[in-house]
Amino acid sequence: MPFESSVVAAAPAAHATPLLAIALARGPLPPSLQPLDDAAGGAISRLLAAGDFAGRRDETAVLYPSAPVARVLLIGMGKPDEVSRTSIRRAAATAAKRARGIGVPSAAFYLPPEHRGGVSPRDVGHVVAEGLGFGAWHYAEMKRPPEEPKPELERVELLAPDDTAAVRQGHAVGAAIAAGQAVARGVQVLPGNVCTPTYLGNVARELADRHGIGVTVLDRAAIIKEGMKALMAVAQGSVEEPRFIALEYKGGTGAPVVLVGKGVTFDTGGISIKPAPNMEDMKYDMSGAAAVLGTFEAIGRLKPKVNVIGLIPSAENMPSGSAFKPGDVVGSHYGKTIEVVNTDAEGRLILADALSYARRYQPACAIDMATLTGAMVIALGHTAIGMMGTDDALLEEVRQAGERSGERAWPLPMWDEFREHNKSDIADVKNSGGRPAGSITAGWFLREFVDGFPWAHLDIAGTAYSDRDDPTRVKGPTGIGVRLCSEFVLARQAR
Ligand code: BES
Ligand code: MN
Ligand code: ZN
Repeated sequence: MPFESSVVAAAPAAHATPLLAIALARGPLPPSLQPLDDAAGGAISRLLAAGDFAGRRDETAVLYPSAPVARVLLIGMGKPDEVSRTSIRRAAATAAKRARGIGVPSAAFYLPPEHRGGVSPRDVGHVVAEGLGFGAWHYAEMKRPPEEPKPELERVELLAPDDTAAVRQGHAVGAAIAAGQAVARGVQVLPGNVCTPTYLGNVARELADRHGIGVTVLDRAAIIKEGMKALMAVAQGSVEEPRFIALEYKGGTGAPVVLVGKGVTFDTGGISIKPAPNMEDMKYDMSGAAAVLGTFEAIGRLKPKVNVIGLIPSAENMPSGSAFKPGDVVGSHYGKTIEVVNTDAEGRLILADALSYARRYQPACAIDMATLTGAMVIALGHTAIGMMGTDDALLEEVRQAGERSGERAWPLPMWDEFREHNKSDIADVKNSGGRPAGSITAGWFLREFVDGFPWAHLDIAGTAYSDRDDPTRVKGPTGIGVRLCSEFVLARQAR
């Protein structure tokens, strides 16, 4: 059973649930919780008075009152004036994560109106739906079922006795985005032997058919015919056939927003092979593609009045007797020639062909998402997406969508000096500018193939997956990009 959340107009003292999660800022018991506290024999106020729970960010406490609910989980959000969309989303994620850990089939979530900060009821519904979906996600399909299985967390009800209609409206949007993010994580998590370019093509077809979205999947012959020589160069070392996926959603009249996602289903580095430690993480090198698919899931559910195109170049990067080699010069869809100095700089090659292909749509703008450079992890860690591009207004629009969605993007400069690093002695451009400013020179490489539309590049190498569980992240795939792109598209509709 897939996870779902919903909005219920009940007050917390009047709703039966095996687990009631309450998000609390610091300070005394808010009046809206008095009836619950009374019914629970003062258990919550005693806990607060004892100082055992102070409402600090990410602090949690579990109570077992005899009535009116079996369990109460308190989740801290920090100082009342610091409560934001982000802290509410985060508390909801913690609630779902803990509910899953405890092993209840359902739970309820309550945010006292006194602790909303400046966040509107609509936004509360939106971010709680996102947070619950984020925290509830897990993947166990490849494990044998445990001998004593715990019940699965199937639903969480958001209690909204006041402003129910507004909360419900926001919740519908947040839940669609959460479903999109779950789609992204569901393909990200799959190993390279399952999630091949062919598999991604099938996912795209299934998703598009389910929502009545247009889809074209080019196979090897069609990719060659289209002249995508850079994509073919990456793909030629693998027995897995490449795919080029185009999703076409028509919701409006104007020029489309184009979303491009890097779909390297496994990146060994090719002949410039990567070291063995953590190479298994390179199954996540299709996270940009997953973000595009997830965003289309959200779009398919929400049907915004905008035209959106999704482009996914997909290949597996392998070393073999047929693989491309350092020093090879290859062509491209755009026409520029590329000296391949490092076969591990493969993402920019396949994206170059996709960005060139995008020209046919005469886009209003294009945003690409890619686990493009290890240097990104050095620059911004696992905290923010690195953002580059050609158009300040677009970059600001993307930055704001990132801020709203809690998937923050931060600009890196694209001064001309950085372009020099990619100069080749033999071809128009080379595919690596070396280690200095590695994320920016990669961005500049892409820029060589962008022509005629505002463009933003999002390097998600540091944010696409997590190697640990912490309050903001769940170990494994994050589905990064889905929330940001969904927010971006929804805001374009309102312009
Ligand atoms: N997929 C990697 C980037 C990456 C590294 C993503 C770590 C996530 C975590 C990309 O294809 C790559 O290998 N980039 C090289 C570029 C270099 C050869 C110029 C890198 O970053 O080392
Ligand atoms: Mn690589
Ligand atoms: Zn890669």
